[in-house]
Amino acid sequence: MKQVNIGLLGLGNIGTGTYKTLEMNREHIRRKTGLDFNIARILEKDVDRDRGISVSKDIFTQNPDDIWNDPNIDIVVELLGGVEPATTFMLDALGHGKHVVTANKAAVAANYEALTEAAAKNNVMFRFEASVGGGIPILNALTTALLANEYEEIMGILNGTTNYILTKMTEEDLPYADALKEAQAKGFAEADPTADVEGEDVANKLSILMSLIFGKRVLPADIPTTGITQITKADIESAAADDCVIKLIAAAFKRGDEVTYFIQPTLLNKDHPLASVGNEFNAIFVRGNAVDDLMFYGKGAGPLPTGSAVMGDVIEIGRAIAKGAAFD
Ligand code: HSE
Repeated sequence: MKQVNIGLLGLGNIGTGTYKTLEMNREHIRRKTGLDFNIARILEKDVDRDRGISVSKDIFTQNPDDIWNDPNIDIVVELLGGVEPATTFMLDALGHGKHVVTANKAAVAANYEALTEAAAKNNVMFRFEASVGGGIPILNALTTALLANEYEEIMGILNGTTNYILTKMTEEDLPYADALKEAQAKGFAEADPTADVEGEDVANKLSILMSLIFGKRVLPADIPTTGITQITKADIESAAADDCVIKLIAAAFKRGDEVTYFIQPTLLNKDHPLASVGNEFNAIFVRGNAVDDLMFYGKGAGPLPTGSAVMGDVIEIGRAIAKGAAFD
């Protein structure tokens, strides 16, 4: 059976979730693809942490060159998070002819052109499904099954941590700080949860979505963004008194050549389809000019849902490698 070798950058929450997804479903993936996916090297400093997985210490390295220079490694999976050094590492990997998969929305949103151009120049694939919507295959759907459409609108709940906090504050009367702690303990939040609660994480995701569906580059910092830090118990109670809930909504609309975009806490009537999207779930509403309205729903954060999306990209690339495909 042909082996596809992976060099993993980072064995944190999402790295561990990806490792577990592969471990859990290895036989199933072999049967479905005829390929044996193997995590061959891991760039990670913390070798000793108990992650509930069995990894040979021999495959750890602290030198990224060990991964680029290993001719057996086909795909580099970047799960370090943060713009740097992740972007430099991905550009290095692409420059060495490695296919790259990432879940890193901050790096993709900041350096979309550089990364996609480096992949095209080196004739390798660059995939980032897990960067938006966690386990929801939204980028895949938008760029394959829905490719015949011109898009008019995209809106939704794009951050699991803030949705979890708002849900717990609304349904269980949990204080903000306790709900945030729970979201961190469950592996939903970013290393620095400020990015979640101030809306920066959603801005990264909306920026990526606009690049893909409208071909419009808007840097995350240029998206008018309000997070949830100012939402009080009183706001939630007053929303409930009006049969409403508060959700952090991201939206982008295209009218002619004009694109309007924003991220803000929004009052939704309890009957609204997004009002019942709770906890770490995300939901993304899209309107295409042929397909009309679509809604995608699923776990938007968490190690296994995100690991599922990462492995989906890895398997897509593995299959292309096995076919000897021309890459894009
Ligand atoms: N911190 C992010 C969230 C992780 O809570 O949605 C998934 O992108």
